[in-house]
Amino acid sequence: RSKCLEPSEENDNVSSLKEQNISLHCLSQQKCIVVFALVCCFAVLVALIFSAVDIWGQDEDGITENNCNTNCRIVLVENIPEDLYYSDNGTLYLPLNLGLLSLLDSAEKTVEIVSSHWNLNATDMKQIHPSAWQGQEVFKRLLNLHLHQKTLKIASDLNHKDSSELKQLAKHGAEVHYLNMTALTKGQMHASFWVVDKKHIYIGSANMDWHSMAQMKELGVIIYNCSCLALDLHRMFTLFWQLEYKEFIPTIWSKRIFAISNIEKPHNLTLNDTNYDVFLSSSPNIFCPKGRTKDIDAIYKVISDAQRFIYVSVMDYLPLINRSNYHTENQVPLQREVLVLRRIKIRLLISCWKQTHPLTFNFVWSLMTLCTDLPNCSLEVKFFTPKDQYNNTFQTVNRNKFVVTDRAVYIGNFDWVGNDFTYNAGAGLTIIQKGAKPDKTNSTVIEQMKAIFEWDWYSRHAKSLQANKIPECIKQKLSKPASFKISPESMEGKDIF
Ligand SMILES: *[C@@H]1O[C@H](CO)[C@@H](O)[C@H](O)[C@H]1NC(C)=O
Ligand SMILES: *[C@@H]1O[C@H](CO)[C@@H](O)[C@H](O)[C@H]1NC(C)=O
Ligand SMILES: *[C@@H]1O[C@H](CO)[C@@H](O)[C@H](O)[C@H]1NC(C)=O
Ligand SMILES: *[C@@H]1O[C@H](CO)[C@@H](O)[C@H](O)[C@H]1NC(C)=O
Ligand SMILES: *[C@@H]1O[C@H](CO)[C@@H](O)[C@H](O)[C@H]1NC(C)=O
Ligand SMILES: *[C@@H]1O[C@H](CO)[C@@H](O)[C@H](O)[C@H]1NC(C)=O
Ligand SMILES: *[C@@H]1O[C@H](CO)[C@@H](O)[C@H](O)[C@H]1NC(C)=O
Ligand SMILES: *[C@@H]1O[C@H](CO)[C@@H](O)[C@H](O)[C@H]1NC(C)=O
Ligand SMILES: *[C@@H]1O[C@H](CO)[C@@H](O)[C@H](O)[C@H]1NC(C)=O
Ligand SMILES: *[C@@H]1O[C@H](CO)[C@@H](O)[C@H](O)[C@H]1NC(C)=O
Repeated sequence: RSKCLEPSEENDNVSSLKEQNISLHCLSQQKCIVVFALVCCFAVLVALIFSAVDIWGQDEDGITENNCNTNCRIVLVENIPEDLYYSDNGTLYLPLNLGLLSLLDSAEKTVEIVSSHWNLNATDMKQIHPSAWQGQEVFKRLLNLHLHQKTLKIASDLNHKDSSELKQLAKHGAEVHYLNMTALTKGQMHASFWVVDKKHIYIGSANMDWHSMAQMKELGVIIYNCSCLALDLHRMFTLFWQLEYKEFIPTIWSKRIFAISNIEKPHNLTLNDTNYDVFLSSSPNIFCPKGRTKDIDAIYKVISDAQRFIYVSVMDYLPLINRSNYHTENQVPLQREVLVLRRIKIRLLISCWKQTHPLTFNFVWSLMTLCTDLPNCSLEVKFFTPKDQYNNTFQTVNRNKFVVTDRAVYIGNFDWVGNDFTYNAGAGLTIIQKGAKPDKTNSTVIEQMKAIFEWDWYSRHAKSLQANKIPECIKQKLSKPASFKISPESMEGKDIF
């Protein structure tokens, strides 16, 4: 304050006026300081809020929405268990483990993986199974990434914190972040995808488990040289990454995890020289920051755009809605479609295995009854049941999770069970054909997915549901005392779904 008054050299007449002016000036200066301090405080506060999700995010390696690559290669990857019989005319796509190894080959800097369940090295088996080497090979390569100065980042579920495999990987330089899914959504992590160098991606049904590379039937896609899509999926990875140990989901998200593509603004990608609209989706809703499409909306979009057929292949189908936490917007699709989309051929392929809920059959049966009553309704359901192998130690299961129509495919991490989409974390990829099918001799990715569905559908492992006949695969279960009964009341389950 005294400093403020110092420059008064003028005579007294003016000085009082000047002094007033100066003190006023001083006052406003003080005000300025206060305002400045407040602004600072506010900025720090905002920074603190944002740091809950890290406003600066991860380095995106200079890849932006404007310079990213849209000319991509897509490869379907499958695991078909050795002894699952397929007619000779079936095409074999790239085996899953080879696909993942090729992704690791192309990695230059960073491999990011979201997967909760880890058991690639078959450490659960007393005796190493002859087919376990496929998963073990992937594990070995992941362990050795650090030797080649490549970073491995893994997001997993806190429930699997004791996984010896994740500990081994961490010991070999992998960074592992655990999400407390119980605290975040009361659910589990079902997500399973890879992002390599923000250029290549994998997404599909497989767990990071040797069973998935050997004994289970799995399907996924690998997309190479596709930084636009990879950057988008990397942002989804970053979301998981930043939620480590958090007990709540921040209400303000960092820009670095906003979606680049969505149902309204898909990526315009060239996959193997054919143009498609492509977008990613995610679940549950609170894992969807600005612009991210929900899986359930992606599935509805694929289904409602269909003109001729809808083929659905899922491990579990159970549209059971728990009334006490009923969310209409997250309902398992299909029933509405049966009612609305007539003259479209709908085929539903469900796995029948140890953990198939007996009520599945009631739901499916009432869905079919509903259809029979409608003109032009075409719904067929089959159950996929490979023979039990290795005497119940484990079972071969078709774990595919996709929908294919005449125009689009959705491939994701979810089965269609009750409110799975409401609580469990997962991701999906939707590929929509633009305009007419291009005149090419090579089949498109959509045609290939259709072919994959049809091979399963016509294989001897797929059995139609027959009236009043309990399928073989759950007979055992029904004979146990604590199991469900299929009563006439529950057969009428219409009002449940
Ligand atoms: C494969 O062969 C089976 C019979 O062996 C036949 O029904 C089916 O149409 C064939 N599929 C293709 C795609 O050729
Ligand atoms: C993976 O399994 C093999 C064979 O059982 C074993 O020799 C190896 O030590 C395991 N690797 C790790 C890192 O545990
Ligand atoms: C995870 O969240 C639950 C519920 O909020 C809490 O009880 C538990 O302690 C958390 N676990 C850890 C390891 O923080
Ligand atoms: C990806 O692009 C690089 C460089 O353009 C090329 O060498 C590589 O073969 C491409 N990979 C695939 C799978 O097309
Ligand atoms: C999509 O990309 C292709 C090839 O890059 C281009 O020819 C086409 O005009 C694009 N379509 C839209 C709607 O941007
Ligand atoms: C067509 O298929 C052949 C044989 O599988 C393959 O070599 C070629 O790259 C494919 N062409 C396109 C445009 O995908
Ligand atoms: C339904 O949800 C409520 C609340 O989340 C839960 O307490 C109850 O056990 C659930 N019932 C079933 C049958 O899942
Ligand atoms: C059923 O299909 C036939 C022939 O495609 C059509 O003429 C008829 O209007 C359809 N009925 C309904 C109720 O959609
Ligand atoms: C398991 O099944 C195989 C053939 O199906 C049989 O040879 C073997 O003895 C069985 N093992 C056990 C422990 O039941
Ligand atoms: C795309 O091209 C690659 C190699 O050119 C081929 O291996 C792959 O099968 C093709 N994918 C589809 C869906 O045709």
